[in-house]
Amino acid sequence: MKKYCLILAASLPLLLGAQPQQDEQKINDLLAKMTLEEKIGQMNQLSYGDKLDDGIKAGQIGSILNIVDPAEVNRLQAIAVKESRLGIPLIIGRDVIHGFKTIFPIPIGQAASFNPEVAEESAAVAAAEARSVGIHWTFAPMLDISRDPRWGRLAEGLGEDPYLASVLGSAMVRGFQGKNLSDSTSVAACIKHFAGYGAAEGGRDYNSTNIPPHLMRNVYLEPFKAAVEAGAATLMTSFNENDGIPSSGNTFLLKTVLRNEWKFDGFVVSDWGSVNGLVTHGFCADQKEAAMKATNAGLDMEMVSRAYIRHLPDLVKERKVSEQTIDEAVRNILRIKFRLGLFDNPYVDVSKPSVFYADKHLQAAQKAAGQSVVLLKNNGILPLGNMVKTVALVGPMADAPHDQLGTWIFDGDKTRTITPLAALQQQYGKQVKIIHEKGVAYSRDKSASGIPAAVKAAQSADVVVAVVGEEAILSGEAHSLAEWELKGAQKQLIAELKKVGKPLVVIVMAGRPLTIQQELNAADAMLYSFHPGTMGGSALADILFGKVVPSGKLPMTFPRENGQVPMYYNHNHTSHAFRGNEKMIDDIPLEAVQTSLGNSSYYLDAGASPLFPFGFGLSYSTFEYSDLRLDKATLKQGETVTATVTLKNTGKHEATEVAQLYVRDLTGSIARPVKELKGFRRVSLKAGESTEVSFALHTDDLAFYGIDMKKAAEPGAFKLWVGGDSNAKLEVEFDLQ
Ligand code: GLC
Repeated sequence: MKKYCLILAASLPLLLGAQPQQDEQKINDLLAKMTLEEKIGQMNQLSYGDKLDDGIKAGQIGSILNIVDPAEVNRLQAIAVKESRLGIPLIIGRDVIHGFKTIFPIPIGQAASFNPEVAEESAAVAAAEARSVGIHWTFAPMLDISRDPRWGRLAEGLGEDPYLASVLGSAMVRGFQGKNLSDSTSVAACIKHFAGYGAAEGGRDYNSTNIPPHLMRNVYLEPFKAAVEAGAATLMTSFNENDGIPSSGNTFLLKTVLRNEWKFDGFVVSDWGSVNGLVTHGFCADQKEAAMKATNAGLDMEMVSRAYIRHLPDLVKERKVSEQTIDEAVRNILRIKFRLGLFDNPYVDVSKPSVFYADKHLQAAQKAAGQSVVLLKNNGILPLGNMVKTVALVGPMADAPHDQLGTWIFDGDKTRTITPLAALQQQYGKQVKIIHEKGVAYSRDKSASGIPAAVKAAQSADVVVAVVGEEAILSGEAHSLAEWELKGAQKQLIAELKKVGKPLVVIVMAGRPLTIQQELNAADAMLYSFHPGTMGGSALADILFGKVVPSGKLPMTFPRENGQVPMYYNHNHTSHAFRGNEKMIDDIPLEAVQTSLGNSSYYLDAGASPLFPFGFGLSYSTFEYSDLRLDKATLKQGETVTATVTLKNTGKHEATEVAQLYVRDLTGSIARPVKELKGFRRVSLKAGESTEVSFALHTDDLAFYGIDMKKAAEPGAFKLWVGGDSNAKLEVEFDLQ
């Protein structure tokens, strides 16, 4: 035993982190040799396709994005390592958002799984495939909280809730970065867009945001803080200006919060051209001032707009930017390059067999897709039984291999997509006859000429499965919508199919919550799959026939009407909360005397409740929550209270339920949300089986930034719920002293 103690003692320094100290020494030694121009070169990122060779050789380029050819990566890397004066390797970046070749559900879909293992595995597969071609760094995960279906980029995010986004975003960081950044299956994560980008006014991408300090802290920054604590190597600043200050020039965000409070030691990259964007915002008069403000604010690396390489040498000479500031930025960049192992092993091994679409990758993608599908309605038609002999498969998304992959797919190969049509034919073709008619050619197609053929197919089938939704390009960057119901002739298609009178299953593949009240009314069952990725069709086929039981939960509120947005579950109580018994527009008598009517916060023509609440999702089974109890009714600061509930599978299918824990702080030094998600757990139960589910809640979990902008759990009364969605009714109370 003694011998092992000696070995352990000797290796302790290494175990405890001698490596970082060694890196710091190497960074300082290298920095001491670098000229000012070489330092600034490290802060300059260009996109592949520009003329790069000479700039790399001159030490003027530190990073390249959008190159995926390993041989070309090695060629450019050899110039940096062998021909530049100091041989500093390049860091290669790429948007690998939800898969490189094997495509996983879009992040909002992964969020519906409420499963950090799915999020981590998706990122790990993406990292392994990306690193295998020489990509060291992905611009993901996106942690922008969004409460507005008009905003097309919510597709890339993890929904409206900061706790869910924190848990899943941290899991993605772990998945991308693995055990060690230098592993050949790891890439550096880049949490983005810092910060508040998802609050774009009107849901219009790139628009101004007006997030006040408390909301910024208590909602929008939370997922970034969690991801930094999970070890995220880099961050990306956002395009928006918040309250007049663009993120790429925001010292409060980049220094006060990120460095001084969170002790972040990686580096920060701008978004595409967002340093020049400081001029467009009217925050700077010209590119030189933009370079000055961005560098001094703490932005380490500039993506493609060349303001740094053009103006920083003069700004340093004019003492408008100190060389110490430059050194800090370069130190941060070199630190990540060392951690990635690029100095020891700058090249990608092109002799290794390809890992693209490995069986385990495809299996992971199918599992993720299966868990990201949300069952919104089922009158019993699902799962399809063996009485079903003929299925009419219709709709523009039933066989859409490109669009099924969703937004931000640069490298995914649509020929590898398993669509619902392909899956039903391959996996269930012996069991059922499939009649396929698109009815509407693509999601925006206004032509109804194909609908009669779809109706005819429906007339000769036992059940109709209509796969509708959005083409991939209708969500993602710069793709906001003012009206977000089914486009083109899709609504007409569903209405005509309904008239046929056969059981109708509607599957929606979309990048956002669509307003689907009409289609929901027409459907006997509805599955919401977001854009489910390469294996989405296989997952959906298995769900239709009951091999997989749906377990997804909505990561965003689904409004009933467009005009209700923004609508989200964790809103404040307001002074006149909606009660639910208010007079609606048609209840108002003629010549009604002036009154405040319901005297509450709602729409006369749309109420104040959503179509589906955050966290909602059905199963082929049913679940019952009972006997919610706490191990203590009074909590002291620093203590933990444990909530336990009995959960029973009261249905006929083995199934998985996502049990959710919500808390309300009844009073605070500032008004508090009516409820906040503070825990969730996927629980699998056989039919009839029950179990105890416990959640431990520490007083730190109750802390928020109060009136004094200090984070604390304030004494007072709390309510706590556990249930299957944010409308959970099982309630207990406790006091915090
Ligand atoms: C884009 C996006 C950002 C992306 C970057 C590089 O404009 O806003 O999310 O990572 O440019 O492609």
